[in-house]
Amino acid sequence: MSRTILITGAAKGIGRAVAENFAADASHRLILLDLDLPELQRWVDEQHGQIKARVETHAANIADLPGMEAFFKMLAKQVDYVDVLVNSAGICNENEPEDLHNWHKVISVNLNGTFYVTSLCLPLMPDRGRIINMSSILGRAGKVRNTAYCASKHGIVGMTKALAMDLAPRLITVNAILPAWIDTPMLQGELAAQAAIAGLTQEQILRNAKKKLPMRRFIQSEEVAAMVRYLASPEAGGVTAQSLVIDGGVGLGM
Ligand SMILES: NC(=O)c1ccc[n+]([C@@H]2O[C@H](COP(=O)([O-])OP(=O)(O)OC[C@H]3O[C@@H](n4cnc5c(N)ncnc54)[C@H](O)[C@@H]3O)[C@@H](O)[C@H]2O)c1
Repeated sequence: MSRTILITGAAKGIGRAVAENFAADASHRLILLDLDLPELQRWVDEQHGQIKARVETHAANIADLPGMEAFFKMLAKQVDYVDVLVNSAGICNENEPEDLHNWHKVISVNLNGTFYVTSLCLPLMPDRGRIINMSSILGRAGKVRNTAYCASKHGIVGMTKALAMDLAPRLITVNAILPAWIDTPMLQGELAAQAAIAGLTQEQILRNAKKKLPMRRFIQSEEVAAMVRYLASPEAGGVTAQSLVIDGGVGLGM
């Protein structure tokens, strides 16, 4: 099936794994966006023969509304449709309750940015399109020093449910994925920060973290990409407004 797929946050982690999954199919046209264009382009160049799809890379800050408006104006001249939108770009800055700077930063990128891209993409989306948003297990739970991140990820879940209702008459599905403990640069960065605070080595903090996980392992970003691929498939046409957790059981175990 020939489809155009737009992925934000495609330079690293989950977004990159999603791009890699879709890129194996020659009938796909991928439009990859990231703040870090050099890293995105480096990865695409490294893939050589692996990528079968037609791939385009663009520098984009999803939190910059005028910039995103200009991008979609340009895109509308180049593509007829965006069949699948995957919103993976996000940041995980912690914030103390008094810290308004990081509150605004995280809400701007994770919540506003995700909605800007989605809203601007809608005029290009055909009936039966697919929207897949990366929330988090923290879209259900709370965590210390994470009011902004938790609010942004709870917000994505709410936005997903409401938009799914708006778009259901057009058979466009909108779903959220709620990951936790996915082995990406974001997780490695968080663990490094925790190691520094606790005065532990990276290995010690990794060992301690894995002990807390029911499966004693991190989840690979390719496993999240497989979930995205399912939600984007024709077989998932009846799945909408859902929050699908991929966390190795950590959110429901003791
Ligand atoms: N890794 C995990 O365990 C985990 C857990 C829960 C939720 N998530 C969510 O999954 C998504 C992907 O996370 P990841 O672990 O792959 O993160 P990552 O940091 O490894 O990759 C995120 C990508 O988004 C890009 N990005 C950040 N801000 C941007 C902006 N303003 N505009 C455009 N691109 C921007 C970054 O450059 C990077 O390439 C995020 O929304 C994150 O909150 C991840």
